Amino acid sequence: MKRLAVFASGSGTNFEAIAQACADGRLDAEVSLLVCDVPGAKVLERGERFGVETFCFNPKSYACKADFEKKIADRMDALGIGLVCLAGYMRLIGPVLLERYGGRIINIHPSLLPAFKGAHAVEDAVAYGVKVYGITIHYVDESLDGGRIIAQRAFPYEGSDPAEVHRLGQVIEHQLYVDTIAELIK
Ligand code: GAR
Repeated sequence: MKRLAVFASGSGTNFEAIAQACADGRLDAEVSLLVCDVPGAKVLERGERFGVETFCFNPKSYACKADFEKKIADRMDALGIGLVCLAGYMRLIGPVLLERYGGRIINIHPSLLPAFKGAHAVEDAVAYGVKVYGITIHYVDESLDGGRIIAQRAFPYEGSDPAEVHRLGQVIEHQLYVDTIAELIK
């Protein structure tokens, strides 16, 4: 499981943390493929900087999810990908990828699951008045932010600024993702 694929839709700070850990030798792995569903996303610049092969696509150019997932799975097969790391990939994984890579796809989410699923987890938690926040890494199944939990870290925050929660959480995410991948590929 030493060849990784990272899927991202946005900034890609988690992608960078993983790629940097591979480059430093802290992770005995290689990011062999970056998959991005948002043309122009910032993660693409990071991928280029690390010289990682990239498959960037516009979902609207495909008739259905199965069509682009087949393309991704074929490329991952060719590269011998052992572990797929979703890092801010804001799209549900469909049956094609789950059938071929099920049990080898993990996701990072900015809440203590099963609380606060979805794309606005931090904002929802702040609105709720949460005092203990957290990060979860879990296996991916067909449900939104479901699947068996692999690792979690909690941190206290008593304020009401979502940007600050994101900032505190991302520091934890970068470390936790690298540590969790290291454990899984051992
Ligand atoms: C991360 O905070 C991750 O937890 C979140 O997207 C962010 C991506 O940041 N993922 C989800 O909300 C998944 N439901 P990044 O692009 O800087 O790595």
